[in-house]
Amino acid sequence: MLILGLETSCDETAAAIISVENEVKVLSEEISSQVETHQAYGGVVPELASREHLRNLPLVVDQVFKSSSVTIENIDRIAVTVGPGLKGCLLIGAEFAKGLALASNKKLLAVNHIEGHLLAPMLDNPELKPPYLALIVSGGHTEIVHVQEVGKYEILTRTTDDAAGEAFDKSAALLNFAYPGGPKLAAMADTVQQSEFTLPKVAREMQGFSFSGLKTAIALLVKREKSRLEAPQVKAQLCHAIQASIVETLMHKLHIALKETGVRHVAVSGGVAANSALRRAVSKLSSAKSYFPKPLHSTDNGAMIAYAAYRREMSRCPELTLEVRSRWPVETI
Ligand code: KG4
Ligand code: ZN
Repeated sequence: MLILGLETSCDETAAAIISVENEVKVLSEEISSQVETHQAYGGVVPELASREHLRNLPLVVDQVFKSSSVTIENIDRIAVTVGPGLKGCLLIGAEFAKGLALASNKKLLAVNHIEGHLLAPMLDNPELKPPYLALIVSGGHTEIVHVQEVGKYEILTRTTDDAAGEAFDKSAALLNFAYPGGPKLAAMADTVQQSEFTLPKVAREMQGFSFSGLKTAIALLVKREKSRLEAPQVKAQLCHAIQASIVETLMHKLHIALKETGVRHVAVSGGVAANSALRRAVSKLSSAKSYFPKPLHSTDNGAMIAYAAYRREMSRCPELTLEVRSRWPVETI
């Protein structure tokens, strides 16, 4: 069976073709990032994002067919993200998919974007099976989810304010890194081993993740130490402290979730899964084995959407409706 997966929920236009015979194989995949379009505004501008999807989606779809030598006639299913995400962006993907499915007489399957991230670690680690805990850390989401089985999810912790990627990006903006500054801040943090700065510790009593206190502390610190922070060595130390604080916040709640559930497998996905300090911390856990998707499947991509549709169908989960939803908690599907 061949599945075409389409993803346009935020600022990446992505398509992939996967084959799911004895094993799951990604035959071709394309991701067109909009970073340059949004950079000048310091964040994603929904109107511009929709326009970019409209222009790029036909191109990336064309490309995945060309590079796999698969034709639309060979495709068995078309899978598309219908939420959560930016409504205008989701509509471009959903309407394109409906048109393509109608014209080619193919079955169309709706996918929840977060379920895509939740299951993506199994795409690249076939030995991973539920139950496992998924730490989703992206620019829009920060959640620990108990994946009990495909289609059965319990949210254990989610952010009460910013997402982890947002915390990285907002801190980076305060230090004058160009958007999205998270990876740049992380790279600078990794150039030093320790830091002279101390930032607020995790609010241990809190239910969810919270990064707003950290942001305020950094803003004050940057104001106070403005001239000293011009020295790269000092700036690197602050980056190190910021990264350590975000990673500690994530790890603290992960430890609690592991202890409370007794689950022995952890999968990390979302853009921040690329962070080497976080990867190191999760890999060192003695209470659980850790799994990461390939970097290309950590961030938004079409393969995880095709894969989620496949896993739901195999697990006989109810088909999801094609209605576009900007908010759509994964535990309600
Ligand atoms: O999953 P993603 O590509 O997009 C969505 O938000 O859905 O995640 C992007 C986020 C951005 O906030 C980016 O700064 C962050 O992931 N990110 C990182 C690193 N690489 C990407 N944050 C910290 N360290 C990294 N190495
Ligand atoms: Zn995402």
